[in-house]
Amino acid sequence: RLDAVIFDLDGVLTDTAEFHERGWARLADEQGWHFDSALADELRGVSRMDSLERILAENGVTADVEQKREWADRKNRYYVDALDELSPADLLPGALELVLACKDEGLAVAIGSSSRNAPMVLDRLGITDQFAAVSDGNAVERAKPAPDLFLHAADQLGVAAERCVVVEDAASGVDAALAAGMVTVGVGPAERLGHAHHRFDTVAEIDLDRIL
Ligand code: BG6
Ligand code: MG
Repeated sequence: RLDAVIFDLDGVLTDTAEFHERGWARLADEQGWHFDSALADELRGVSRMDSLERILAENGVTADVEQKREWADRKNRYYVDALDELSPADLLPGALELVLACKDEGLAVAIGSSSRNAPMVLDRLGITDQFAAVSDGNAVERAKPAPDLFLHAADQLGVAAERCVVVEDAASGVDAALAAGMVTVGVGPAERLGHAHHRFDTVAEIDLDRIL
């Protein structure tokens, strides 16, 4: 039996994946680097520094730690500025309904997000209080695809890993949840999420009964 659902945030409950993409695109543009939607898709779920490293590798750019920090900080400023516009209206269709349906089923619900900005995003969406636990980018050392973040969330809920379901839009997030021994639900195209146990095109289409 399943006891808990751990939700990824960016790209699952709200479309901040688009804001992350725009932040990196603006930085890349200023630096004269190549950056496109295909690369942005691969960066879903990937931590801030790991994302920068992949963009640099793609462009054959090397730099010292100080310079990398400045670039990462700059992208984060663009992202945080964009969050000013975020409100409860930006919850994806069916997202809050799904969280509430899980709770009605007696399932514990948590957030497992790579983002260090997750608390701010939850706050702006007005859903912080819905979750019994929030594991974000500050919670663990090793980012997705390592299982650590989801194991941290399960631990906070006091639920065994094999009794947790993870809802993810990122390939790296499904990898992390599989590594944690959890049931995985992918939200998005099969090319990206074909390795998840269950897959739906959108959050609104997630069939909780089928998963349980
Ligand atoms: C993930 C996003 O949720 O968080 C990634 O999918 C992002 O695109 C990562 O890079 C880290 O976010 P932040 O807010 O800590 O830079
Ligand atoms: Mg995501």
